[in-house]
Amino acid sequence: MKATVTAHSAFTVAPIDDRIYGAFLEHLGRAIYTGIYEPDHKTADKNGMRGDVAELVKDLNVPMVRYPGGNFVSAYNWEDGIGPKDDRPVRLDLAWHTSESNQVGIHEFADWCETVGTDMMLAVNLGSRGLDAARNFVEYVNHPGGSYWSDLRIKNGRKDPWNVKLWCLGNEMDGPWQVGHKDAEEYGKLANETAKAIRAFDKSLELVVCGSSHSNMPTYPDWEATVLEHTYDVVDYISLHMYFANRENDTQEYLAQSHKLDAYIGTVAGVIQYVKAKKRSKKDIYISFDEWNVWYHSNKQDRKILDGNDGWPHAPALLEDIYNFEDVLQVGCILNTFIRRADVVKIACIAQLVNVIAPIMTEEDGRAWRQSIYYPLLFASQFGRGTALDLSIDSPTYETKIAGEVPYLDVAGVHNNDDGTVSFFLVNRHPDEALDATIDLQAFGSPSIIEHRMMSHADLKATNSADNPDNVVPMDGSGAQVQGNKLTVNAGPHAYHMLRVSV
Ligand code: AHR
Repeated sequence: MKATVTAHSAFTVAPIDDRIYGAFLEHLGRAIYTGIYEPDHKTADKNGMRGDVAELVKDLNVPMVRYPGGNFVSAYNWEDGIGPKDDRPVRLDLAWHTSESNQVGIHEFADWCETVGTDMMLAVNLGSRGLDAARNFVEYVNHPGGSYWSDLRIKNGRKDPWNVKLWCLGNEMDGPWQVGHKDAEEYGKLANETAKAIRAFDKSLELVVCGSSHSNMPTYPDWEATVLEHTYDVVDYISLHMYFANRENDTQEYLAQSHKLDAYIGTVAGVIQYVKAKKRSKKDIYISFDEWNVWYHSNKQDRKILDGNDGWPHAPALLEDIYNFEDVLQVGCILNTFIRRADVVKIACIAQLVNVIAPIMTEEDGRAWRQSIYYPLLFASQFGRGTALDLSIDSPTYETKIAGEVPYLDVAGVHNNDDGTVSFFLVNRHPDEALDATIDLQAFGSPSIIEHRMMSHADLKATNSADNPDNVVPMDGSGAQVQGNKLTVNAGPHAYHMLRVSV
């Protein structure tokens, strides 16, 4: 099977916003407790944060982390997580039917972000609470001092404000499962008023309004239109979420789901344009895809806790999907989609980062290890920075129920002008045929290969584990060559490749 790709330095999509390599941490399961925070762990720092986990996060070079939820935020009192730890209340978390000890709050999370070198993206509670709690939280976090909330922060040990730029106006407010769920009119009005109050404090802050939790939601895409009609002038991004699953055990259909993602982005980009035109506005709004990942492996095992049959456990193992090689291909295609849509997707967060549907797992009192999906994320974050190329792609296709005709070759290209490289991320979706891809690099001068890494596995369902952490890992690629201005690569069936050429 053959495919051809043409990459030209003058044909670009847009500069890639580094924040598409963001992540998400929620007070859910073991993401925080025994994930990033475990005071008795042998690698814990003075704040109780695990050093082994921090190292794996640092390697991913995550630009920012969304916090503290997720569904959790819709019934969360941020004040519960400040002040002396012994005085913090234990609360029932209605979102996940667990107990929340509040031993980690904004101070501990902010310190951890400084340790791992990432920015915060904070969400306010627009479910059980509203404008008042939101504006107090923003003042606590961002005001230098001399006001009630900022002085309380200083009293609690943090002199300088954290100056958090990105704020989410609630989470998945279209979802009936959300504590304090609202319809689009109610939410649009509340988000608008909350955004106005936050802007009155600091108009330079960037605000993210909730879009749909999934493109299968019955309210999609009316939800986006209504919410944006209320908030267009005061927000900067609309948030979308999507999770991927192979419940039917049909790999070819599963790998076509990124085309549904592409259509979802395209539709919401259209809704943004529609509201912009309706408002005669000159302002642009972009997409914050602040929850995405594969999520289904753990569904059955979670039922007991989620149905409340286990009482109110603290930090139980919830949403602990163990990812396989097939998921590597899926995550590769998802990241490629974000790169190809760099003109409208400016923020994206893998959901989540540690233990909960995550690339990094921990054993309590034991080791931290990388899941299979850690690697496509690592490669994209390391080498997917620069300008997204508008590739011309000619690939054989196959027919799917979910997305019609889908190409066997999924590819994204990124030109990094600073270091003079072009990186390609390729997935061969074909189950049993190799793909000969020829990439025409004419406009890039004399290219030469500087790195070729790949992932493949005889068993699509192969996973890593604490005892066997290197079962699904990248290896050096071979056989790629440059002849003249043409780069050729042979990708075996169901394989992921990352190629970097200097240009
Ligand atoms: O990431 C897990 C959950 O998925 C989040 O809490 C929620 O926002 C979404 O439904």
